[in-house]
Amino acid sequence: MFLLVNLKTYRAGTGKRAVRAAEDARDVAEETGARVAVAPQAADLHAVADTGVETFAQHIDGVSYGSNTGATHAGAVAEAGADGTVLNHSERRLKLADIDASLESARDESLETVVCANNPAQSAAAASLGPDAVAVEPPELIGTGTPVSKADPEIITDTVEHVSSVSDVPVLCGAGITSGDDVEAARELGAEGVLVASGVVKSESPYEAMLDLVT
Ligand code: G3P
Repeated sequence: MFLLVNLKTYRAGTGKRAVRAAEDARDVAEETGARVAVAPQAADLHAVADTGVETFAQHIDGVSYGSNTGATHAGAVAEAGADGTVLNHSERRLKLADIDASLESARDESLETVVCANNPAQSAAAASLGPDAVAVEPPELIGTGTPVSKADPEIITDTVEHVSSVSDVPVLCGAGITSGDDVEAARELGAEGVLVASGVVKSESPYEAMLDLVT
C-alpha cells in the first residue's frame, strides 16, 4: 500500500514544517516497511528530498529548457532530488494535451508519475497516456474528513474497472482519508495506494497520523 502525503500549500506543510513532516514520513517508512512519499511545494523539494524520504513534486509543466517564466521544469525537479511527480491534481487541473506533455517531460527525467482524475472516465483517459499510476479523487470530498473509500466506494471500483479496460496501471484514491480503516477499505475496493493531505498535515501529530494510515 502506497501512502502519498500531499502537503499542498498548508502552512503546516511549508518550509521547515515541510521538512519535519518529511522526517516523520521517512521514520514511518523505515519503521514499518511501508512505502511513504511526501509531495511538498516546489520551493521545498530540495530540503524535503534531503531528509531521505521518497519525494514527489505536486506538479510539473511539459516545457523544455528555455523561455518559460514561472514554469516548473521536470529537470529542475529531478535535480532537486524528487523521485516523481503528481499531475492534474484537482487543485491544479490540466488539459489532456498538457498532461501528455508533462508525462513526456517526466519520463525524460525518469520521474515516476501519478496522474489524478475526478472520476472513472477521466481516470481511464489518464491511464491511456501511460502514467505509472492514476489516482481518483472526487473533489467534493477533498479536505472533508469523509473518506472516499466509505462515502463513495463505487467510484473506486468503477475506476479500477474502467482503468483495467485500457491499461494495467495501478489505481490509487484520495479525498477525506484520515485513518487506517479508511485505507483498508480503499485496499479492499482495489486501490493500491492512497493520497492524503489534511488528515496528516492538519493532525496534531503527523507521525502518529501516518503510522495509523499504514498499519
Ligand atoms: O492529494 C490528496 C488530496 O487531494 C486529498 O486531500 O485533505 O482530503 O486528504 P485530503
